[in-house]
Amino acid sequence: MRKNILYQTIWQQASGLLDTRFGRLSNTANLAALLYQNLPDINWAGFYFLDGHVLRLGPFQGKPACMEIPLGKGVCGNAAQQKRAYIVPDVHAFAGHIACDTSSRSEIVIPLIQHEVLWGVLDIDSPLLNRFDAQDEQFLQKIVSLL
Ligand code: SME
Repeated sequence: MRKNILYQTIWQQASGLLDTRFGRLSNTANLAALLYQNLPDINWAGFYFLDGHVLRLGPFQGKPACMEIPLGKGVCGNAAQQKRAYIVPDVHAFAGHIACDTSSRSEIVIPLIQHEVLWGVLDIDSPLLNRFDAQDEQFLQKIVSLL
């Protein structure tokens, strides 16, 4: 399936599934599951929530992951600190990358920002090199805006 068709389908499912009345925990849990089940070639999809100066593990799908990431550390901590998305084509080439699953080879992290305040990140890992591009980033930015 072409990527834009796939993303349109996931977007429609997410629009029907997510409902801010049910709070962030339930919505991020369902969004992690939806992305993990539908995105090809990924091995981890989930959320970290900001708590003071650290990110704490939230709902996810995939192998168990590190529970706490200080701001500025790893891909997630950098994306959170700088409030910008990170696309890492080769995690082995990213100084300070935190390896939760040794099979991960590339990664995308999208900051979660509401009213200019960061509240967490969405993190997706792939076992393939160079799995994520600007189209993935654009789609994921759009989908997290539903939260
Ligand atoms: N690789 C991330 C850590 C989280 S796991 O990939 C689930 C990082 O460097 O921040």
